[in-house]
Order: sequence, then structure tokens, then C-alpha cells
Amino acid sequence: MILGIETSCDETAAALVDTGGRVHASVVSSQADLHSRFGGVVPEIASRRHLELVGPVVRATLDEARLSLDDLSSIAVTQGPGLVGALLVGLSAAKGLAWSRRLPLTPVDHLHGHVASLYLGPDQVEPPFCCLLASGGHTLLLDIRRRGSFDVVGSTIDDAAGEAFDKGARLLGLGYPGGAELDRLARAGDPDAFAFPVARVSGLDFSFSGVKTALLYAVRGLGAGELHGRRADLAASYQHALVRALVERTRAAAAGLGLTRIAVVGGVAANSGLRAALAEAVFAPPDLCTDNAAMIASAARYVLPVPYPEYLGLDAYAAATG
Ligand code: KG4
Ligand code: ZN
Repeated sequence: MILGIETSCDETAAALVDTGGRVHASVVSSQADLHSRFGGVVPEIASRRHLELVGPVVRATLDEARLSLDDLSSIAVTQGPGLVGALLVGLSAAKGLAWSRRLPLTPVDHLHGHVASLYLGPDQVEPPFCCLLASGGHTLLLDIRRRGSFDVVGSTIDDAAGEAFDKGARLLGLGYPGGAELDRLARAGDPDAFAFPVARVSGLDFSFSGVKTALLYAVRGLGAGELHGRRADLAASYQHALVRALVERTRAAAAGLGLTRIAVVGGVAANSGLRAALAEAVFAPPDLCTDNAAMIASAARYVLPVPYPEYLGLDAYAAATG
């Protein structure tokens, strides 16, 4: 039984997963409300809140599964990438818990965690497959030949897909993070009402900064009164443009790699438009798409744990290691 802990951004999460990938408990405490009035995550506020929440969240997770620390075989924790202060809270908590029980500790890369959300539950995805990882911080196309590793074949040259959704949501007056709200608003709109071209960059890379600017000009071009009545159309057209870019590149990557299976992970994988447009792909369940600790415990199944007490020297890292 692996206890996973995730604190890389603004979700404090813990989960219990067994070596077969069955989730026994998963608790996610979102701080989104705390950060929304600032229009984004404030790192220092996030760290402090993680500090308050990490203990109670781990306790609630053990209670949910009716287990205790005595039942654990190892502890897994997100080491990076993410906000360093936030990561350090989870890493320190994990070190303390592991040390107190002389358990091994497995440091997990957050991006490998997102991919490992596909290796949970009864319908686990088997490599080889092509994976689109689209979150608030990353947009990657991955060639996956075996569990526990991947090769990056494409990425964004500017904004991440989730960031593009959030910035679009902000322009439409929605809260932060606005991806899910934009998704809801888009359902009531016409995806062909506005033409928002997405820049075509060479190879398998993405670029989302231009489409965001196109939305900005469309919003400015409408009067305040007119804007209100067109918000759903703007949301639907904007989402349509982002989804089309994601779908085109993902299909091209899979074809180029000779892979017939496609999977999608990360917060943007919860998007209903993307799920409908890429109907042939496998999507993680929505609650495992956005940040959670079950995916972190899952990824730990494919990483060698660090024995006691060597892990006490581990440090967090902010940027993707590549
Ligand atoms: O994977 P995640 O929880 O955190 C990161 O690792 O970044 O992804 C969060 C991102 C946010 O940008 C959020 O707006 C976006 O995923 N997101 C969505 C939806 N649900 C979450 N974007 C579009 N449609 C959704 N339904
Ligand atoms: Zn994430």
C-alpha cells in the first residue's frame, strides 16, 4: 500500500493506492477559492495553505480507507516540477512520515504522475500509445513504449493549453482557474460563430499565444452590452480553436510514431469538447485528470524507492527535467 502526497501547485492531495493500481482512498483539497481574487496562484499563500492542510488531508485519506500508517509499504511524493515552496511542504511531510516509520520514500515527477493516472483502476491503458499531456503548466506529446518512461515528441512554444483556457476565461469575465467554467459556457454557444485561427508551428509543437490575442481583439470589438450576449459564442469558438489544434497535432504525432492508441491526461483532458472531438482516444476519469495524489502513488509503482535514511537529502525542483 502506497501513500501518495501531491502539493506542486494549489491542490493539497493524498491518496492510497496498492501495487495493482487500485485506489483505496483519494482526497483533494483545492485552494482555488483562496487564489481566485488574485487571478492566479500566489506561491507564498499556496505554501502556507499546504502547510495547514497536508496533515489533515493525509489523516482524512487514511480514515477514508480505514487504514493506519502501519499498513503502508512506502510513501510517494511529488518532487517537481511545480512551485518550489509548495513542493517543499509535501516533500518535507513525506520525509517526516517515512522517517517516523522507517519506510522507503519514492520521489515522483509530476508529469509522470499525470501519465500514471492511466494505470489506475480496472481499465488500465497498456503501452505502446501516444499521449497528449495538457495541463495548466504543460502541453506535451509523448511517445510511450513502456510504463514508467516516455519520450517527448512535441511541446508548446509559449502558453500551455490549460493556461490558454484560463486566459480566455479571464477575458470572458469568468473566475480562476476558468478552464472548467469556459467549458460549461461553451456548451450554450456556437463554435463556428467566430473564426479564431491557431498558429501553425512546424513539427509537432503547439503555440497558443496568438489565439488568445485573437479573442482579446474580438472581445474589444464588441460593445459592453453586445459582449454579454455573445459570451457563449466566444467561449464555444475559442474552445473549438484550442481543441482543433490539440486534436490535429495529437493525431499527427500518433500517425508519425506508428501508434494506433491515443490517450489524454492532465487537467485539460477533463474538457468536454476535447473528449468529444478525440472520440477514439482513452481519457482518464475527470477526477484523475486534474491534480491528485492517486496518480502520484501510481507513478511510484514504476520508480525505485529511495531507502531510509538516504531520502532525507532529496530536494524539490521547479522546472521539468526533460
Ligand atoms: O493538471 P492540472 O490540474 O494542473 C497542472 O498540473 O497544471 O491542470 C489544471 C488546468 C487549468 O488550467 C484548468 O483550467 C484546466 O486544467 N482545466 C480545464 C478543464 N478542467 C480543468 N480546461 C478546459 N476544460 C476543462 N473542463
Ligand atoms: Zn498537474
